[in-house]
Order: sequence, then structure tokens, then C-alpha cells
Amino acid sequence: MNIGTTEAAARWDRFADEYARNHGEMGDLHKEALLNPVLFSLIGDVSRKKLLDAGCGEGYLSRLLARQGALVTGVDYSPRMLEHAKSRTPNELVIGYHHGNLEELDFLENDQFQLVVSNMVIQDLANYEKAFQEVYRVLEKDGYFIFSILHPCFVTPNSGWVKTEEGAKLYWKTDRYFYEGAYEQRIGEEEKMILFHRTLTSYINALVQTGFLIEEVVEPKPSEEVLMKYPSFGEDLRCADFLVFKVKK
Ligand SMILES: C[S@@+](CC[C@H](N)C(=O)[O-])C[C@H]1O[C@@H](n2cnc3c(N)ncnc32)[C@H](O)[C@@H]1O
Repeated sequence: MNIGTTEAAARWDRFADEYARNHGEMGDLHKEALLNPVLFSLIGDVSRKKLLDAGCGEGYLSRLLARQGALVTGVDYSPRMLEHAKSRTPNELVIGYHHGNLEELDFLENDQFQLVVSNMVIQDLANYEKAFQEVYRVLEKDGYFIFSILHPCFVTPNSGWVKTEEGAKLYWKTDRYFYEGAYEQRIGEEEKMILFHRTLTSYINALVQTGFLIEEVVEPKPSEEVLMKYPSFGEDLRCADFLVFKVKK
């Protein structure tokens, strides 16, 4: 598919109301169960830190971090997502929301953030290398970039469960791993989102070529507590949905 970031972001805008309905103060279920515990253990103490939430969506992560004392800037390309983010943010939280494309953050000065977080956004960008360069530019020296993506080895175009006729999940299949580019994925009731697949090699090489030092990589798994509360997450012990990077400028 020859399709770019603008069309991908336009679809996010149309999907924003449904997306916001599925997100509470801890995000959605996958974020509460799998992503938040990993993100917060990698992020550590944020008190008084200047932090950018790149692709903040309806802003649940910005709010959780601001509640811990971070000075948060949230950027998103969808005006409707930003409307939700603003309306959900109480006055006492220090969060400045901006409309912008992560591939062109020219409204943000160099070397100003101690931490950039980006939760489930980078696979939505046609030009992820440019976004890595922009994040690198706005981070101060020794600053961290922590981001989660769909796991590129398991979530590929045409991946999914192979099931018995009765619907039991036999195994997860992947295909077209070496395809790099856009593909459509039905996410909401009516909307097909555009995602961009690239290989693990491409992600790692792009980070290294940008100048980042890869410090830690995590494939989130459900904890015992999560499995007690939500037994259906047992299937996340069979293959990984997400990959989280902690890299340093
Ligand atoms: C899966 S949502 C994640 C939102 C939020 N980080 C969260 O965890 O709930 C992806 C978000 O990225 C935004 N987005 C997609 N492409 C973008 C771009 N080029 N620049 C800024 N935001 C973008 C979308 O508008 C959407 O809000």
C-alpha cells in the first residue's frame, strides 16, 4: 500500500471517540495488564522531570505521569484525541497538549526533555526514522526514550490465531514478516487503521543509526496477579503482542 502518515492519522481522528470510550484512567485492558507495569518499571521516578508523551492519544499516560509529579508535554496528530485529552485533564495537573506530527516536531526546542515516552505509536508512522531523529533532537544528553510497539516478529500483516472449527485457539500464525510498509487492520467497529510493519532488524538499526544506546528491551508478559484477575491473559504466555525499548541519548 502506498499510503502515508497523514491518512493514518486521519483514521485515528475518526476513531478517537470510540478509542476514548475504551480508555479509563489506566488506559485499556491490555495497557493496564501488560504495558503499564513494564513502562512504569522502566520509567522510574519522574518527579519534576520534563517529559514528552509522544502520541499521547486521549492522555491517560500523560495524566498518570503528571500525577507522579512530571511536567508533561503531550503531542498528538489527531485534534479529536487532543480534545478528549484536554477535557479529561483536571486543572491541577501540569500538562501542555500540542497538535503535531512526531515526524516534524519543529515547534519543540532541542535538548529540552529528560524523558520521552511513546506508547503504541511508532508503528503508526510512515517515517519512523524521522520520528526517532526528532525524539533524539528534543532529548537532553543522557535523556531516555521509552517506547512500546506491536511486536514486529508476531504482529505482521496476516498474523492471527489459527482455530479449530469450535473456535479453540490452536496456534498463532505469522506471515509476511519481511514486508516493510503499510497494511490495514480492523480495530474499531467500523474503522480500519493503517499500521506500518517493519522488521526487528530495521527498528534496531534505525535506533543505533540515530545515535541511541539500547539499554533494555522487554516483551511484556502477564504477572501472576494479572492472571488471577484476568485469566484470559494466559494466552499472552504463548506469544508476545508487544515490545518495549528503553534507549538513551
Ligand atoms: C494507539 S494510539 C496510542 C495513544 C496513547 N499513547 C495511548 O497509549 O493511549 C496512537 C496515537 O498516535 C497518534 N498518532 C499517530 N500518528 C501520529 C503522528 N504522526 N504524530 C503524532 N501522533 C500520531 C494517534 O492520533 C493516536 O492518538
